[in-house]
Amino acid sequence: MYKIIDGKKVASEIKKEIAEEVIKLKAAGKKIPHLAAILVGNNGSSETYVANKVKDCNEVGFKSTLIRFWNEVEETVLLGKIAELNNDQDVDGFIVQLPLPAHISENKVIEAIDPRKDADGFHPVNIGKMVIGLSGYLPATPYGIVELIKRYSIETSGKNCVVIGRSNIVGRPVSILLSQKGMDATVTVIHRRTKNIKDIVRNADIIIAAIGSPAFVKEDMVKEGAVVIDVGTTRVISHETKSGFKLVGDVDFEKVAPKCSYITPVPGGVGPMTRVSLLRNTLMAAKKI
Ligand code: GUN
Repeated sequence: MYKIIDGKKVASEIKKEIAEEVIKLKAAGKKIPHLAAILVGNNGSSETYVANKVKDCNEVGFKSTLIRFWNEVEETVLLGKIAELNNDQDVDGFIVQLPLPAHISENKVIEAIDPRKDADGFHPVNIGKMVIGLSGYLPATPYGIVELIKRYSIETSGKNCVVIGRSNIVGRPVSILLSQKGMDATVTVIHRRTKNIKDIVRNADIIIAAIGSPAFVKEDMVKEGAVVIDVGTTRVISHETKSGFKLVGDVDFEKVAPKCSYITPVPGGVGPMTRVSLLRNTLMAAKKI
C-alpha cells in the first residue's frame, strides 16, 4: 500500500516552528520579518499564489506588503520599484511573482534583486552558491521538495532519480540539490528532446515531475515501489469546486499511486512546501544569517 506524502501537514508543522521563532524575536526586541511581493497583471494562478503567500505571512506573524502593477507596466518602472525595495531597510526579503508579461525580461528583473533580499533564491548569486554547496537562499520549490524527502526519511543515496523538466525554478535546481553530497542521488534530467522517455523514467527509484503537463506520468512509466513527487499545478476549469477551478498535477495519480511506495498529491503535496520555504528564506533574511 502506498503512503501519501502530506505536504500540507509538514508545512503546517514548519509554520508552527517559524511562528515560535517570531515570538522569540519579538520578545528579544528584534525586528519582525517582513516579506514584500510584487504582482504584475492579474493572471489567475499568480493572484492565488500571492494571496496565499500573504496569508502565510500573517499566520506566522510576519509583516507583508503586496505591491501591484498593471499588466502594461514599463520594465523601467518595475526595475525602479525593485531598486526601492533593495534600499528599504524595513523589507527583509521580496519576490516578483512569475511569469511576467512578455514585454518584461524576467532575467533582468531577477538580476536586479539584491541577492541578500532574494527570498525566492532565483538570483544568479544564490543559484551559484547552491551549485557549489555554499549557504544562501534556496529556490522555494526545490527546497520544499528536499525537506519533504528528508522529513519522510526517504533514502536518496545511490538511488536513481529522474527529474522531468529543466526549468530554472524547479527541474534544474532540484536536480543539483539531489546530486549533492548528503543527498547523493544519481540524477537524470529529461526534457522535450530526450529520447526513450518511458524507458528512462521506468528505471527511476524517485521521479520528480515538473513540466506542467497534466497526467504526463502514466502507470506504465513507473517502477513498482517508486517514490513519485508531483510538482505540476495546472489550473483547469472544474464544476466540483467553489472557485470554478482545480489544480491538476503532472502524474496520473489514480493509476500511478498503487505502484508507488510514496506519492505526493496535488493539491496538498509540494505546493504548501514551496510556500513554507519562502517563509524560511524570509526568516533567514531577517536574521541576516
Ligand atoms: N511562479 C511559479 N512559482 C513561483 C515561485 O516560486 N516564485 C515566484 N516568484 N514565481 C513563481
